[in-house]
Amino acid sequence: MAGFGNPTQAAYSTIRELVENSLDSCEDAQTQPMLEIDIQTINADTIMITVSDNGTGVPPEQVPSAFGRVLYGSKYSQQQKRGTFGLGVTMAILYGQITTDSPVVIHTQTHTSKGVLYKLLVDVENNRPLVESKEQLSRNAVGTTVTVQLRGDLKRSLDRIVEYIRLSTVSTPHAKFSLKIDNEVVLELGGWSKTLPAPIRATKPHPRSVDMELLRRLISRHSEKSLDSFLQSCFQKIGSRTSARFLRFMNLNPNRLMSEFTRDELSQLAQALRKYDGFERPDSRCLSTIGKDEFLTGVVSVFNAKLVEYASRGVTEWQGNPLALEAILAIGDEFPRSDVPTLYRFVNRVPLLYDSSEGVMTRVLKRINWTRYNAKSCEPVALFLHLCSTKIPFRAAGKQSLASIPEIEHETYHLFKELGRKLGRLNDRSRRSARQVKKMREFSRSFRQIARFSTTLAGQDEVPSTDELVKQLFEVSQDE
Ligand SMILES: Nc1ncnc2c1ncn2[C@@H]1O[C@H](COP(=O)(O)OP(=O)(O)OP(=O)(O)O)[C@@H](O)[C@H]1O
Ligand SMILES: [Mg+2]
Repeated sequence: MAGFGNPTQAAYSTIRELVENSLDSCEDAQTQPMLEIDIQTINADTIMITVSDNGTGVPPEQVPSAFGRVLYGSKYSQQQKRGTFGLGVTMAILYGQITTDSPVVIHTQTHTSKGVLYKLLVDVENNRPLVESKEQLSRNAVGTTVTVQLRGDLKRSLDRIVEYIRLSTVSTPHAKFSLKIDNEVVLELGGWSKTLPAPIRATKPHPRSVDMELLRRLISRHSEKSLDSFLQSCFQKIGSRTSARFLRFMNLNPNRLMSEFTRDELSQLAQALRKYDGFERPDSRCLSTIGKDEFLTGVVSVFNAKLVEYASRGVTEWQGNPLALEAILAIGDEFPRSDVPTLYRFVNRVPLLYDSSEGVMTRVLKRINWTRYNAKSCEPVALFLHLCSTKIPFRAAGKQSLASIPEIEHETYHLFKELGRKLGRLNDRSRRSARQVKKMREFSRSFRQIARFSTTLAGQDEVPSTDELVKQLFEVSQDE
């Protein structure tokens, strides 16, 4: 039950899982997300969380499996998504079920099917949904509303929940959120940007990204195919020539039927696909970075930052998965003051709030000598780092920090260094302008004295203003 260790974390994780699914669904629907989060206190230690969205809705026949079965999913393609495991919402439902013995309530409607309201439980032993009731009930629009009752500590988790929503509007600046607690609206946030992200393409998996699980799933659909045709039809970057080269190099029979492979042979095939270096780099059209303008809009709208700088790295890969990183350096009074910039972490647009001291991103941050860039001497500095990939190497099922993957470490390091250099330049500039201001003040004082003295010497009464003169002098020196 990772992520649901105690009532405080459970309240936060439940909201996070429901919100993630809702945002994914709105992205599929290509609409501006309008999410309503409603928390009701039932008694001292029980709360009811409802998240409502305007996404695609869930086809009625899929509701029981999507919500009541762990690892439900039939992914044969790669695409950047917030959800990756097919685990999240069922974990939230299970925690609610175990702690309060209540079913989850799902009210959903799609463009092609009428509204339906399900109440269901999870049969833990058999990993199966148990439908308690199902009725036709029209919704006022297409989308999904999920209600979970659970043992949760709202008081303790509220700060994190609010922080999660705030940061979600940084990474998804076109989304709008409202948070209601016991029928009172306590937060309305987002909609900073009107631009929807471009649709994300689903691509076939890259051969270097296979594992046994994926291979088995693909074979279950293509068992009648020969090895050669299986490789060409199930993977990206394998055409007839690449396939022939790979099979020759590995000394494999192209005509062997997939159904004839033994477990050991499949494991060898998976290994060979991962090792062969003759495949082109993975397709990156299945990634969706936030992008410079949108990311800056998010940071400036939420944190009132004074100075912001954006940097990004080109698309690269880790183990056959395309990988892209982008980051913002921001200076402003709202960030905590510290020798090292405060780090805000995002993966596939999801903010990570827990385990901030662990994981590869924080480790890289600490590896850099920030005093070199005078991080201490200026106003508080923050870094917003966004990583996107079709696979995220979380350290644990709680999905809060990343494992040390050399490619990710390398990319993060160089991105931070680039922003560090920008910070250094900003600091130099502000030091230079501070020196300039001081000099200008001294000149003004001296010029005023000279003007007063000259006026007396000339026997005049009115001292002329020297402001314009000083201004012109400094304009000239700046031009030079
Ligand atoms: N609000 C929703 N709108 C549309 N579909 C949904 C919604 N919530 C859940 N689903 C469907 O149910 C599936 C299972 O959700 P679940 O959260 O368990 O897994 P996931 O999001 O795919 O991965 P993860 O374990 O990382 O959360 C989703 O993949 C999605 O197809
Ligand atoms: Mg999910």
